[in-house]
Amino acid sequence: MKKIIIANWKMQLSILETKNLIKNYKFLATRNKNIFNNLEIVACPDFLMLDMATKIFKNSKIKIGAQNSAASNQGPWTGEVSALNLKRLGVSYVILGHSERRQKLGEIDGLINEKIKIVLDNKLIPVICVGENLEQRKVGKTKAVLLNQLKQILKNVKVKKSSDLILAYEPIWAIGSGQTPAVNEINEIHKFLQIQARKILSVSIPIVYGGSVNKNNATEILQAQYVAGLLVGGASLQAKNFFDLIKINK
Ligand code: PGA
Repeated sequence: MKKIIIANWKMQLSILETKNLIKNYKFLATRNKNIFNNLEIVACPDFLMLDMATKIFKNSKIKIGAQNSAASNQGPWTGEVSALNLKRLGVSYVILGHSERRQKLGEIDGLINEKIKIVLDNKLIPVICVGENLEQRKVGKTKAVLLNQLKQILKNVKVKKSSDLILAYEPIWAIGSGQTPAVNEINEIHKFLQIQARKILSVSIPIVYGGSVNKNNATEILQAQYVAGLLVGGASLQAKNFFDLIKINK
């Protein structure tokens, strides 16, 4: 299976900056076609820019992801965006349950669970984030916290094949901090998550790592046995930087 690299641009850029970034990704993707032999690349702009991204990336191999979607396909959900419309637009992936949404917007596991089901119904691939905070890590609760999140967010979720769903292990303390767990620790947690997720879903799903990935640590993390890919925030905001990170791993 191809490794998957997901660029999460968050809400970091102006409209013009995003437009330029999309164009620069497209340019570098066209010049480095062979990277797609072994890698699936997904760019996740904010909602405002998804339409433009689908148009500019149309004939490139870069797939498009949204950073969230609603827990319903249609209806009175002021401010939300439906997975159904994301599908219609040409989006392929949806990040769900990112810790920034959990912490700053109060998203809870039950809501994330509903969103996952709707995203799957629409034949989009959810990229579901789980992760422990620093306090939980310090008291040795990482695995218990992750298991609890998994059980809740995957409750009654049905997948047919392993590529239907992606899990992202994102330790909250590693996001944007410049710190990451040691690679053997990442691998061990991914192995744990894979076993536990298989018990719930009856299929083995890919698990990507996110949190302060950059071009210096990407290769080592990606080579770990249970790491199926990377979710990259800060290091994806400049096209050259991101493609340097990808190119070493093609
Ligand atoms: P970071 O963000 O790479 O900037 O740490 C990753 C993420 O939040 O997905």
